[in-house]
Amino acid sequence: MEETVKKKVMLSGIQPSGDLTLGSYLGAIKNWKERAEEFDCYYFMADLHSITVRQVPADLRRRTMEQLAQYIACGLDPEKNTLFVQSHVPAHTQLGWVLDCFTMFGELSRMTQFKDKSQKNAENINAGLFTYPALMAADILLYQPDYVPVGGDQKQHVELCRDVAERFNGVYGDVFKIPEPYIPKVGARIMSLTTPTSKMSKSDHDQNGCVYLMEKPEDIARKFKKAVTDSDTERCVRYAPEEKPGVANLMSIYSACTGKTFDEIEREFDGLGYGAFKPAVGEAVIETLRPIREEAQRLMKDKAYLESVYRDGAQKAERIANRTLRKVYKKVGFVARF
Ligand code: TYM
Repeated sequence: MEETVKKKVMLSGIQPSGDLTLGSYLGAIKNWKERAEEFDCYYFMADLHSITVRQVPADLRRRTMEQLAQYIACGLDPEKNTLFVQSHVPAHTQLGWVLDCFTMFGELSRMTQFKDKSQKNAENINAGLFTYPALMAADILLYQPDYVPVGGDQKQHVELCRDVAERFNGVYGDVFKIPEPYIPKVGARIMSLTTPTSKMSKSDHDQNGCVYLMEKPEDIARKFKKAVTDSDTERCVRYAPEEKPGVANLMSIYSACTGKTFDEIEREFDGLGYGAFKPAVGEAVIETLRPIREEAQRLMKDKAYLESVYRDGAQKAERIANRTLRKVYKKVGFVARF
């Protein structure tokens, strides 16, 4: 008898609140595509999360479509991966509410992303921004994934999700699988090229610090040539994140793009200094992003295809998500409608 081996499940999402950056690619998407054959994968555009910060509606819509094109261009085959828009699957908000009631005020208050974002948006510290991690827990737990591939900055949210799931399971039995964060060894925290002590972020106002997936090669080259290194006199390419955060960041980017180890990189640029190193990192990034940019541009012209992908994706996602939601509703004591 033929045995069907059930694949392990991977799930993740990105907010379409800005254009995708080299940080989101190296921290998350690169891992998604490398594991796409091995796992049963669910990837979505986290539009519900985006409105915790005020968005221009037309931009949000455009970026959601672009993000889908970029997911596919990064190597996620829609035939093999479930790609969908978060707001198309109502179970996310429905489970989100239930999990709001299982997430503690103290836990949410400790989230670094909440603290950062409320500092940056002091005029709009809304309840959604605060309860965001409970919705993220719902995003995850609906699909019972084994792994959640994210960059280092999202680890705290995945850990909270595990705590909430364990709390719920503690009351109602084994409803949720407890997921593991899946974080890359190199590239988990890509820093700004101009301020290497802060994270490269799609909402960063300093355009020179951030490299975008769709950026033109000449702009990428210019940004890397101008990247802040360090004011040490040694001027040698050596991995020392505390002493030389700028160089360490560029080494991480180069390593993630080429697969070379830090030792190999140090040897390659031994005696050559930053003048040779910075353009080489730029080139490696340009070559990594070139096929993605070209394919995403081609896909963006095919709106009908993108629509068919997100429609099919929502249908597949909804089937799985509703199964978990029904179980949760029953466990907490809601009367079934039929
Ligand atoms: P978001 O949209 O801020 O970022 C998307 C993904 O990219 C990673 N990332 C980075 N990794 C390394 N270096 C960087 N500079 C960098 N910038 C971003 C992030 O860690 C993330 O993996 N809350 C999530 C979205 C989300 C989600 C989910 C993720 C909503 N629901 C469920 C996983 C599962 C967020 O804001 O990511």
